[in-house]
Amino acid sequence: MAFPPSFLEELAARNPIEEVVGQYVNLRRSGSNLFGLCPFHGEKTASFSVNPEKGIYYCFGCHKGGSVINFQMEIEGLSYPDAVRALAKRAGMEVPEDAQYQNRYHQQERLWALSKEAARFYHTQLYSPAGEEGLAYAQKRGMPKSTLTRFGIGFAPNAWSSLCDAMMAKGYTEEELKQSGLASTSQKTGKVYDRFRNRLMFPIIDVRGNVIGFGGRVMDDSTPKYLNSPETVIFNKRKNLFALNLAKKSKLGYMILVEGYMDAVALHQYGFDCAVASLGTSLTEEHAALLSRYTEQVMLIYDGDDAGQNATKRAIPMLEKAGLQVKVLQMRDAKDPDEFLKKFGADRFRLLLEESSNRVEYQLRAIQKKYDLREDDQRIQFIGEAAEFISTLGNAVQREIYGGRVAEAAGISADSMKIEVNKAFKRRISREKKKQERIDLSPAAGHQPKDRHIRYDNIKSAMAEESLIAMLLREPALLSSCDGLSQELFSSQLLGRVYEQLVQSFGQGIEVSLASLTDFSPEEMSHIALLLQRHDGPVSEQALADCIRTIRTEHQMQTTKSAKNNDDLLSFQKQLLARKGFKT
Ligand code: CTP
Ligand code: MN
Repeated sequence: MAFPPSFLEELAARNPIEEVVGQYVNLRRSGSNLFGLCPFHGEKTASFSVNPEKGIYYCFGCHKGGSVINFQMEIEGLSYPDAVRALAKRAGMEVPEDAQYQNRYHQQERLWALSKEAARFYHTQLYSPAGEEGLAYAQKRGMPKSTLTRFGIGFAPNAWSSLCDAMMAKGYTEEELKQSGLASTSQKTGKVYDRFRNRLMFPIIDVRGNVIGFGGRVMDDSTPKYLNSPETVIFNKRKNLFALNLAKKSKLGYMILVEGYMDAVALHQYGFDCAVASLGTSLTEEHAALLSRYTEQVMLIYDGDDAGQNATKRAIPMLEKAGLQVKVLQMRDAKDPDEFLKKFGADRFRLLLEESSNRVEYQLRAIQKKYDLREDDQRIQFIGEAAEFISTLGNAVQREIYGGRVAEAAGISADSMKIEVNKAFKRRISREKKKQERIDLSPAAGHQPKDRHIRYDNIKSAMAEESLIAMLLREPALLSSCDGLSQELFSSQLLGRVYEQLVQSFGQGIEVSLASLTDFSPEEMSHIALLLQRHDGPVSEQALADCIRTIRTEHQMQTTKSAKNNDDLLSFQKQLLARKGFKT
């Protein structure tokens, strides 16, 4: 373990979670919990809870949760050790700098520095003889020097080791070059060589200004068109957006989300300095949450092809879930914004922006496109599907307005459309009610962890395990009554691991709470926070003994069952052998 648990316990004690969270969220007391609007997803009713006694936060909306340290990490986008450092500083505590964390922190710093050096190297190459072709290509793509400078665009020479040589001359090691994803290792010779060669280089810079990776474009039609940095200690595609470091300073009051590096660059160049691009992956919830920290409104512009349209459909609910208002711009007369701007200029693009529809209109238009309204049966189908969609709108005025529009397009009266929408609404409610009943009636489904990786195999045992862990986290002294209970008896691997850590710390004389649990992922911590919220019953020796009994019995049954399966298998094999004339 890295930071000593005793230090983490003191850290948590001197940083009361309600105070730390209170710096970011308006909290109101309700019973033993405090509630507020969740800072991690957009919402109108408070589902974000803080429990000072248990030292946890948990959002019933987005299911994020954990200790004060997890909160600090999540809200400030910090690594674990940095969050610990920040909290220590807040409480005026000194941090016992542990070698392992020192190293990791040091490694990150080295990789940031190396990536920045590499970006500088690529950028200067652009203006050197080795970069002639790169500069010519950049000019052909209509990028003036000011754009190349603003984005730090560069060129990776057509050679196997120019970057490695330059970086090693500056004192970086082969190992660091590999860790940064800038170099690969040859299978045959084991030597490192430049990953990016003969490509126009786009540095990817995070919101704190660190160069964390690169995208490199070929200058002809060869493939892959773009080569990106692999995932590294400092680069996570799912959590970063290209050009957000610039766009976050925009005064335009909204963000434009596009698919391509070149699109984002062109938009900035033409004055739309609020453009960002995802990094060759589809949009993630993390991207949406990141955007929602800087804006409330997103203009989505994906390519006009089928892939782009599908990506749009996926992205809309994700962005809305993060509390963002979404508008969609339908690309016309050009493949993407880059092409459009270069063909028609900024003013025409501004017109497109203004007339761009909101997401309801976009959806309705997509539905309408599927049908030929001159055919009666298709018109009926169109009305049905449109009514179904309109019935999902939460706002009566919206239902009225869009219902009217559909009625007009389909040539029926607004009143008949209203009836269709109401019918669709009732159908949906009854469907949803049935679904909810199924969930409620099957307790197993309701108690399964939100994260698929933590699924419970044995719900009955897992509930006893949860309840036991909840009691031990609130009352660590009870560990002395857990004689004979061991990690192997747990049906849930995660809960077994938690138990093991509690036992070990207890053995060292430390009474642990959530804050000193290390080695658990954010998803695991969220789940542990949830189980603490869920198990609120009395803490007693008796309740503890009940849990232990259930865990034992379930374990016993499981073992007998698999033993029986084994026996069955054995006797079956014996029969087979006997039938074939073998003696057994
Ligand atoms: N992309 C990728 N790997 C590829 C192709 C694309 O990572 N082999 C990602 C890049 O982030 C790229 C985005 O997907 O910017 C969109 O692809 P595309 O529309 O083909 O690229 P553009 O940015 O429009 O590039 P260009 O105009 O130079 O063709
Ligand atoms: Mn393009």
